[in-house]
Amino acid sequence: MEYFDPIENREETNFVKTNPDVHRHIYKSEEVYPFWIADMDFRVALPIREQVLALAHRGIFPYEFNDKKLYGSISSWFESRHGLVLNPTYFNQVNSVLTGIAVVIRLFSKPMQGVIINTPVYHMFEHTIKINKRKVVNNALKVDDQGLFVIDFEDLEIQMSKEENKIYLLCNPHNPVGRVWTTEELQKIKSLANRYDVLVLSDEIHADIVYAPNSFKSYINIDRENSVVLLGSPGKTFGLQGVATGHIYSENTGYYMKIRREVESLFIHHGNAFTFYITQAAYNKGSDWLEEFIIYLEDTIAEIQTFLEKYLPDVKLTKPQGTYQLWLDFGDCNLSSEELKDWIFDKAKMGLAPGVQFGGNYELWYRLNIATERGVILKYLKRLYETKPYFSKKNTSNE
Ligand SMILES: Cc1ncc(COP(=O)(O)O)c(C=O)c1O
Repeated sequence: MEYFDPIENREETNFVKTNPDVHRHIYKSEEVYPFWIADMDFRVALPIREQVLALAHRGIFPYEFNDKKLYGSISSWFESRHGLVLNPTYFNQVNSVLTGIAVVIRLFSKPMQGVIINTPVYHMFEHTIKINKRKVVNNALKVDDQGLFVIDFEDLEIQMSKEENKIYLLCNPHNPVGRVWTTEELQKIKSLANRYDVLVLSDEIHADIVYAPNSFKSYINIDRENSVVLLGSPGKTFGLQGVATGHIYSENTGYYMKIRREVESLFIHHGNAFTFYITQAAYNKGSDWLEEFIIYLEDTIAEIQTFLEKYLPDVKLTKPQGTYQLWLDFGDCNLSSEELKDWIFDKAKMGLAPGVQFGGNYELWYRLNIATERGVILKYLKRLYETKPYFSKKNTSNE
């Protein structure tokens, strides 16, 4: 577990995570500790670092790219980890997952047509839809009897049946609620999407961060004919968020060619030598590191759960099935949204991502990114407990 030891230089000001301007904007203070953006504080896997050093030593950077090798590595990864058989000829590379989403939205819908999303969801979905002049259609997730976030299929059918709604942008696994959609749920999506001729665009960037007994199912396995899937990138899996890259996959030859013509005409269809070699190193040699990382995350989640149950039982956590984002419900604390902000940001100095960013009425919810040292998270949770501005009705060991 030496990978997950304390890290120096985390105050680097070029990191978006620690940028004081961003902190002033979100938290009105520079002092909060950043638990907001979904990136990682850990050193990347050794084979990736070695690859970067080898490139630096090589010292020459001519035009360089090898589609066959790259898509071959990604395909082997998905087959060995997820049993997903891919055909390397159906990939298109772009320079981020959001670029891929924007390209597909622009190609498969017209201005003012609707793109359906499941709020609360990764806030950049809404931004990407709006900035491309499409309409955001909110299919709000519901909570079932077990406290699990689920898709409102009745509402989805109504939304898909409307002629103007052309795309369903699925987040699988889902950020921030941590759901890993089951085959049954994906089948239901397919039957509605095919009935109403809606394109399913599945963002699967969080595919590799899934906790047993759950297992990731790609939408490709459900519908190979009518889907476009953002297999994502090695960004979230390996802590390579700053190495901009993304992979769009569709076995529908018409869709594939349409996307290919567009990305080639914009010259965004290949990465640079670093993205190529780093992606290859990650997928070819990163699995041991990932195994350790997932164990580290599982232990972190268990410790957070124990802490919350013991000291802050009014802060509810539904154990995530996937992703390293924890979706925390502060609704039972009996505080207003302003009182909550004052407690979390000003008193406890925790830079959590406010739930309202993700769409819907989530003023009393916050997202905690746990891809950081466990000790730091626990230190701040302790602060949260020590600065608690209310008296809990639930029994805790100290009250
Ligand atoms: C669901 C989802 N898609 C896309 C992204 C961003 O990917 P990229 O940086 O490659 O655009 C994120 C980042 O948090 C995400 O959670």
